Amino acid sequence: MSDRPSTAAHLSALFSLEGRVAVVTGGSSGIGRAIAEALARSGAAVVLVARREPELAATVRDLEAHGCRAARVSADLGSREGVQRAADRAAEPFGEPDILVNAAGINLRPPMDALGEDVWDTTMAVNLDAPFLLGQRFGPGMAERGFGRIIHIASQQAFRAFVTSGAYGVSKAGLVALARSQAEAWSARGLTANALVPGFVMTPLNARLSSDPERVAALAARTMTGRNGVPDDFAGAAVFLASASSAYVTGQAIFVDGGFSVH
Ligand SMILES: NC(=O)c1ccc[n+]([C@@H]2O[C@H](COP(=O)([O-])OP(=O)(O)OC[C@H]3O[C@@H](n4cnc5c(N)ncnc54)[C@H](OP(=O)(O)O)[C@@H]3O)[C@@H](O)[C@H]2O)c1
Repeated sequence: MSDRPSTAAHLSALFSLEGRVAVVTGGSSGIGRAIAEALARSGAAVVLVARREPELAATVRDLEAHGCRAARVSADLGSREGVQRAADRAAEPFGEPDILVNAAGINLRPPMDALGEDVWDTTMAVNLDAPFLLGQRFGPGMAERGFGRIIHIASQQAFRAFVTSGAYGVSKAGLVALARSQAEAWSARGLTANALVPGFVMTPLNARLSSDPERVAALAARTMTGRNGVPDDFAGAAVFLASASSAYVTGQAIFVDGGFSVH
C-alpha cells in the first residue's frame, strides 16, 4: 500500500480555497461570474459586487445550489464614495477578504474624435479607480495577515490598440501597472497581485460585436486555438492565482487568450 497522499488531498493542498473569503466585483455576469463560481466551488466564501440586484440574487442562488457560501452587495463602483461604501459592506457577511478580484468593467467605445471627458472619467472610475481604491482598502490588511491575492481583469487593449481602444485600453494598461505596484508594495508580506488578460470573450460586454458573425469569426481566426473565449476559460487560472500555489507569481500579466497575443 502506497503512502502517497490521495490525488484529492494533493490537489486540495495545491488549490483549495477552504476558509478563504473572496470579493469579486462584476461577479454577477460574464468572466467575473465564472471566476466567482470557480472560487466558491473551490471552497471560498464569495461576496459579489455589482449594480443590478436581480443578476446578483440569481448568481447567489446558483452558488448556494452548489453548496457554496455566497453573499452580494449591490453598489455602483463608478464613484469613490460608492466604492468605499461597497467595500465596507462587502466585508460584513464573511469578514475581511483574503482574495480580491476586480472584474467589474465597462467598455463604451466612442471613436477617439468623439471621446469626451465624460466617457474618459466614467471609464477610469469603474475600470481603474475602483480597483485601486479596493486595493487600498483591503491590501494592507491582507499584507498584515500574511496572505492576500489580488486579481485584476485587464485586456489585450492594455498592450495593443484595436476595435476602438480609446479610454478603455488606457484604463486596462493602468490596471496592469497597478498589479505591478501592488506586487512591489506587498509581495514580501504574502500578498500577490496579478492581472489576467483575456482575448475576445463572448459576454454581455461585447453584445454589439458578438452579434456580428463576420467580426466574431475574424477575431476567432486571430487566435491559435481557432475559437473565441468563454467565461469558463478563466476558472482554472483564477483558482490558481487565488490559491497558495501561486505564492511565487506576482506582478504578472497572464494571458488567457487562446494565443491571440502571440503573433
Ligand atoms: N468580454 C471580453 O471580451 C473581455 C475582454 C477583455 C477584458 N474583459 C474584461 O473582463 C471584465 C468582465 O467583463 P465581461 O466581459 O464579463 O462583462 P459583463 O458580462 O458585462 O460583466 C461586467 C460586470 O461588471 C459589473 N459592473 C459594470 N459596471 C459596474 C459599476 N459601475 N459598478 C459595479 N459593477 C459594475 C456588471 O454588473 P452591473 O451591470 O449589474 O453593475 C457585471 O457584473 C471587465 O473588466 C472587462 O473589461 C472582457
